[in-house]
Amino acid sequence: MAAYGYVKFFHIFFMAMWAMSAVGAYIFYLRATIFEVRDNPENEELKKRLVWAYEQFDKTVILEHIAFPLLLITGAILYYLGGWSLAQHWLLVKLVIVIGFFIPLELLDIWISHILGPRITRRRNEFPDEWNSGRALHLKFLLKSSPMIRITVPIVILLAAAKPVLW
Ligand code: HEM
Repeated sequence: MAAYGYVKFFHIFFMAMWAMSAVGAYIFYLRATIFEVRDNPENEELKKRLVWAYEQFDKTVILEHIAFPLLLITGAILYYLGGWSLAQHWLLVKLVIVIGFFIPLELLDIWISHILGPRITRRRNEFPDEWNSGRALHLKFLLKSSPMIRITVPIVILLAAAKPVLW
């Protein structure tokens, strides 16, 4: 069916948008600035840059969070149109990772980036401690989730692309 190929194109396109949109901003802007502020705690210019970097990063992840539901929807359409089943074990393992890890992680990330982040930024001058503890929570989330993401995202892409027979 011709439509299948187009849906697959969108699935792969949203996969790329979801997996890659925030990576560069995190590694080369946000994380780099956090480490610089840690090494130079008295530098006011760097502190201002950190606030800016957080605000820009919160915007970058909007792309990621638009792509994610579209990735899930196009995946579900492929599943339906292609007559796939969970007897294909690559797909079963992929969905266990998606449902058991990516979905809860993204829900937490959506709350931190789009609800907590803007709230503490709005009130930063009034409640600086709230900003500091909110951003500490955000950083903890990023540092803890990054190693798992670095492993699970390539695994899911590999499973989908190579479709290995697992057992
Ligand atoms: C984080 C979520 C996901 C990622 C990163 C992802 C990634 C991918 C990639 C890269 C492909 C292309 C493989 C190829 O061209 O051979 C693919 C195919 C596929 N995906 Fe996903 N996917 C995700 C979610 C889902 C979901 C939620 C479903 C089903 C409910 C799904 C069902 C499928 C199916 C059936 C194919 C096979 C298409 C084919 O080879 O004809 N995916 N996925």
